[in-house]
Amino acid sequence: MKGKDLLSITDLEAEDIRLLIADAISLKAQGWLDMLSGKSLAIMFEKPSLRTRVSFELAMRQLGGEAIYLSPAEVGLGGRESVPDVAKVLSRYVDAVAARTFSHRTLEVLAEYSAVPVINALSDWEHPCQALADLLTITEKKGELQGLTLAFVGDGNNVARSLMLAASLTGMNFRIASPADYTIDEGTLTLARSNAADGILCTDEPRLAVEGADIVYTDVWASMGQEDEAKKRSKAFAGYQVDAALFSLAKPDAIFMHDLPAHRGEEVTDEVIDGARSVVFEQAENRLHAQKALLAAILGGLEIPLAGYYR
Ligand code: CP
Ligand code: NVA
Repeated sequence: MKGKDLLSITDLEAEDIRLLIADAISLKAQGWLDMLSGKSLAIMFEKPSLRTRVSFELAMRQLGGEAIYLSPAEVGLGGRESVPDVAKVLSRYVDAVAARTFSHRTLEVLAEYSAVPVINALSDWEHPCQALADLLTITEKKGELQGLTLAFVGDGNNVARSLMLAASLTGMNFRIASPADYTIDEGTLTLARSNAADGILCTDEPRLAVEGADIVYTDVWASMGQEDEAKKRSKAFAGYQVDAALFSLAKPDAIFMHDLPAHRGEEVTDEVIDGARSVVFEQAENRLHAQKALLAAILGGLEIPLAGYYR
């Protein structure tokens, strides 16, 4: 993975994901290290962020490297300066770029013109770093991924897309329940089915998805950039709230997951997100550990004998 981009979770093979999870577990136990000294990361965002910004910045610092945050107002990607020019300039300063963009195409252009690796820190199409942290969290909670069933209730969005593909690559079953106009795209569904033929279910019935699941996952109904659709979406998603009644259809030891930020009272009730089986804050913490493994793999560290380190 050294020197490679991560624009989509499909840039990783199943083995890469397993190694990154193993590395993340190892790095989580080791804390601060001097692995990436002399390396730097630009964190360039077109949209707001709490978790992704803090976890990328801290990941670099905890590995002995530097991080520079560029806020939405500062960069003006494609406005103040063309995307190719921004890519070429940043490549002269830093060793990698983590970018959060409205359009996935912007990320692709950045990667095309950048001489250094580009990491997708969320686009309208995918959120691969979230999926890595999620699979790390599931591994910690359940011991393994193979054979587990994850039920995603809600929008077939960026988070769902990366998670479905990551789950199908790692032997999990993935069920998604969305209203008719908000289903996941056919291309992603076909790709996931090519990885896990019998393990993928796409339905408009939340109860069918959740019944007997090991993990119940949801995300906001209106993502960043869709604020003007919020009213229309809350109507369409009205029957898709993860409340105690829906969650009770999952296995008795099922966990609840959400990438956050959550809109409490919309896609999830307080009772579920604050309940004993909710792991949402562990998930948020794991963004840090998963991204440390990713940065170590992409930027190359020193003599830490991590599982995926020398690939
Ligand atoms: N889950 C996530 O990406 O959170 P932020 O938008 O706060 O970075
Ligand atoms: N689907 C959400 C995820 C936020 C982390 C969004 O794109 O806004």
